Amino acid sequence: MKAASALDYRDLARRRLPPFLFEYVDGGSYAEVTLKRNVADLEAIALRQRVLKDVSQIDLSTTIFGQELSMPVALAPIGLAGMNARRGETQAVRAADKAGIPFCLSTVSACPIPEVAAAAKRPFWFQLYMIRDRAFMRDLLAQAAAAGCTTLVFTVDMPVPGSRYRDYRSGLAGASGFMGAARRVAQAMMHPRWAWDVGIHGRPHALGNVAPVLGANTGLEDFFAWMRNNFEPAVGWDDIAWIRSQWAGEIVIKGILDPADAQEAANNGADGLVVSNHGGRQLDGALSSTRALPPIAQAVGDRMVVMADGGVRSGLDVVRLLALGAQCVLLGRAWVYALAGGGEEGISHMLDLVRAEMRVAMALTGTTRIADIDATMLHLPGDHG
Ligand code: GLV
Repeated sequence: MKAASALDYRDLARRRLPPFLFEYVDGGSYAEVTLKRNVADLEAIALRQRVLKDVSQIDLSTTIFGQELSMPVALAPIGLAGMNARRGETQAVRAADKAGIPFCLSTVSACPIPEVAAAAKRPFWFQLYMIRDRAFMRDLLAQAAAAGCTTLVFTVDMPVPGSRYRDYRSGLAGASGFMGAARRVAQAMMHPRWAWDVGIHGRPHALGNVAPVLGANTGLEDFFAWMRNNFEPAVGWDDIAWIRSQWAGEIVIKGILDPADAQEAANNGADGLVVSNHGGRQLDGALSSTRALPPIAQAVGDRMVVMADGGVRSGLDVVRLLALGAQCVLLGRAWVYALAGGGEEGISHMLDLVRAEMRVAMALTGTTRIADIDATMLHLPGDHG
C-alpha cells in the first residue's frame, strides 16, 4: 500500500510493527475515552468555507521562540519512538530538519542526546520528566544544552503513569523475565522486516538517556518499572524555578488542560505551554485538547506561546487547532506511524501531506498567512451564520 494520508501510515505501522510496539504508540489509558475525544472533538470543528479571496500566495511560515519554522508544526516527544525504525529518533530529526520544523526528543527515547545531535542540522527541542534524582536531571539538562537544544519541554502530566491496558495485553507491560522476552521475540519473528531493521540492525535496544542509571536493566519491561520508580510525584510549581536555575533557554510546560494552571505556568515564568492530555494516555475522562484550548489561549495567549497536541491526523486538524488559538501544533502518533511505515522518508512524506492539506484548508477558508488564522474561520457550536 502507498500512503496517501497521514492515517494510512497507521495501517502500515500496524502491519510492520510487533504488536507490543504498535499497541504502545496507538493506545491510550483505561477505556481510552479521552483518546477518542481528542479525535472526535477535533474533527467536529467545522471550517468556514470562503471563496473568491485571491489565495494565489499562501505563506505557512512562522516564528516560534525566534526560530523560523516553515509551518507551525513540531514533532512531539514520544517515548521509545526510536524502536519503531532503525535508530528512529535520528531519522526523525533529519526529516524535521529537512521540513524546517522542530523535533522534540523525549527523555525516554531510544537514541541518546549525543546520537541525535550528531544527526541534527538545526537545534532540536528536549523533553524533560521530573526525575527523583536531581543530579541525573542536572546532567541530562547539561547534555541537552551542550547538544545545542534551545527549548526545554517540561512534561507535567505524568507524576504517576496512567494504566494502559493494551500494554498488558500486548506483552509490553507486566510480563517481565524470560516469558515476557520470549513473547516479544515471538512477535518480532512474525514481523521479519522490523526484526531485520530494528531487532538485528537497530541495536542497542536501550533507553539511551536513562541507560546510565538503569545500569544492566535496560530491557523494555524495565521502562515501566523505571518510570514508576523514578518519576517524582512530589513535583510542584516551585520546581520550575529549580529548572530555570539549570536551563538558560526557553521553558515550555507540556500537559496543561486548565486555564488556572496556564496562569500558574505564566506566573512562574514559563515561556510557553502545550495544551495536552498526553495523547489520551494519562487521565482518561479528561477534556480533549480541542475543548481545553480556547479558554487557555484566551487566558495566557498574550503572555506566552500556546501550543497544542492531541488527535491531529491531518493538515486540516492543524489548521483547526491554530484557529482555536494555538500558535504551533505538535504531531505525536502521526510521525511515529510514518516512521514505522516508511522511516525518514515516511516522515518527510507525511509532513508534505500535512503541509499540502494546510494550504488547501487555508485557501478554501480564504486565509493566506498563519497570523490571519483565527476563530472567524470556524463555525463554532451554536453559530448558524
Ligand atoms: C510516555 O511518555 C508515554 O506516554 O508512554
